Amino acid sequence: MFTVNSFMEAKEKGDKITMLTAYDYSMAKIVDEAGIDCILIGDSLGMVIQGYDSTLEVTMEDMIYHSRAVRRGSKNAFIVGDLPFMSYHINTEDAIRSAGRLVQEGKVHGVKIEGGLEVVDKVRAIIGAQIPVMGHIGLTPQSVNIFGGFKVQGNEVERAKKVVADAIALEKAGVFAIVLEAIPGKLAKIISEKISIPTIGIGAGKYCDGQVLVINDLLGMYSEFTPKFSKKYANLKEEITNAVGQYIEEVKHVSFPEDKHTFTIKEDILQTIMSEDIC
Ligand code: KIV
Repeated sequence: MFTVNSFMEAKEKGDKITMLTAYDYSMAKIVDEAGIDCILIGDSLGMVIQGYDSTLEVTMEDMIYHSRAVRRGSKNAFIVGDLPFMSYHINTEDAIRSAGRLVQEGKVHGVKIEGGLEVVDKVRAIIGAQIPVMGHIGLTPQSVNIFGGFKVQGNEVERAKKVVADAIALEKAGVFAIVLEAIPGKLAKIISEKISIPTIGIGAGKYCDGQVLVINDLLGMYSEFTPKFSKKYANLKEEITNAVGQYIEEVKHVSFPEDKHTFTIKEDILQTIMSEDIC
């Protein structure tokens, strides 16, 4: 069982941490049984499950619904749920209430919150309520309208300094790990060496203490947009398209279902039904 303590132990031993998103029971069961350390119910579900063009529409209710399903499917992984847009922005009370709901109703082990220096008060408050918090800095998708698009962060002096300052502030506030998204690999290396808690990279290069990907990208199921940093380990879109095409063909040509897919009835019962003229 991977616990909140396993993150630090992995960093100390130099073991890379593996993390993937999942949004439902079946996928959570597969990735958990494959041996993943941490499952994230990411608010990326707004894009890959709900079909929005950003994560901004995702609600607490959505997060709770998907988190419960994922939790039922997993036995060994540490489960983290994203705090969605506007569930923690207004004040620390809101942040504690939202994180508490995700633990109590969504059954997650910990929550992830986007932002650095500007959210440390919320992070401290949530940890004060005994809920483990994962940070997320660099390209934080809930800030897409401030960034002016999904763009690499930290490739200018001021932005790079801000990302380093964010990481240090989050470590001080007590987060157990930090996701670094879409920042230069060498900047992620500096941060990973500077802080004692693990960094989990997505588009942040190989020096991070762990890696995370969106499962739909890894499986080649989301065709709208593939980020440069994502690697397709399978092409399930093609496999699914072929399987569905074959099913359509077979139904049209009555080659599915076959006898082996069909329930039988005893001949005498059949005769009785037919003789009673009920057909
Ligand atoms: O929502 C999400 O899937 C995430 C990952 C990209 C880290 O936050």
